[in-house]
Amino acid sequence: PKAAGSAFAPSNIALCKYWGKRDAALNLPINSSLSISLGDLGTRTELRIRDEGIASTSSRRAVEAMPSSLDLVYLNDALQSPDSSFAQRISAFLDLFRPMLGNAGFEVRTENNIPTAAGLASSASGFAALVMALDDFAGWGLERRKLSMLARLGSGSASRSVYDGFVQWHAGTHPDGSDSFAEKLSFQWPEFRIGILELTDAAKPVGSRDGMNRTVETSPLYRSWPTQAGRDIETIRRAIQEKDFSALGQTAEQNALSMHATMMSAWPPLIYLQPESMAMIHQVQRVRADGLEVYLTIDAGPNIKLLFLEESEADVAGSFPGLKIIKPFEEVP
Ligand code: DP6
Repeated sequence: PKAAGSAFAPSNIALCKYWGKRDAALNLPINSSLSISLGDLGTRTELRIRDEGIASTSSRRAVEAMPSSLDLVYLNDALQSPDSSFAQRISAFLDLFRPMLGNAGFEVRTENNIPTAAGLASSASGFAALVMALDDFAGWGLERRKLSMLARLGSGSASRSVYDGFVQWHAGTHPDGSDSFAEKLSFQWPEFRIGILELTDAAKPVGSRDGMNRTVETSPLYRSWPTQAGRDIETIRRAIQEKDFSALGQTAEQNALSMHATMMSAWPPLIYLQPESMAMIHQVQRVRADGLEVYLTIDAGPNIKLLFLEESEADVAGSFPGLKIIKPFEEVP
């Protein structure tokens, strides 16, 4: 291995959402999903063996007994407690690779340049960057498809964050997950814009993992989800290919709101939308009725992401003060 490995991975926003697992341990999804990566917004991760001292027999024994506690995990330069869910999730993931890397503890430094409260999945860019940093550290030279499958084990949506641009994650059918990986769609769309509205930084009540499982188990509306997602992903693929922004926006918005309908009909209900989210959903409908071509998407949280083209940028910015505008194809690092 090298002295240190490092990598950057972009965050991504799904236009056709991943919601529901057929295997929780391997993060195998029920439906395929399609996302757009956010250029230079994401996570940079650096990874090295924690320290030389671990080579001594007694500390090595300690590492073997309880390896996770020996990782040092930093988030934006702040050391995270080993008990924090952030450090635990990283350590549990590193446990998968520890035996082939000398059973050592790691020092992991994670820098997110994603506005933390914006409800952008930092687990997606986080696990993608971590896998690529591991690959760089160990000198495996794995192909993207393998990196995507490994990132998936950390977080499903991370499988898509190993690529720039439009990305499709194939759900696959094999129980071992060998056909469940993401692939880059080679279409560019330089005029594509994403607007981030930070409405609230209220922590989400239920994380994606538990939220999905609850929805699959209890929501009567979930039954129609896999069929709809299958249709939506084809429509969005075609829309990207033909640069049909109306078809893309309509389908992405309907897909996101349908996902929220399955969440709301779960029991206990999963209501991620806050009053501010609702107000914004209505405002999007209003400005669209006035002729502005803008659509929305929402993940498992209260914040809204807007989808529009460069030609509408000034009008959209005027209608939504405080909007952070991302140019996914112009800001590839
Ligand atoms: C609503 O990838 O965070 O953002 O696999 O349990 O880690 P785990 O879930 P995660 O779920 C993302 C759900 C979503 C939709 C999406 O990004 O496709």
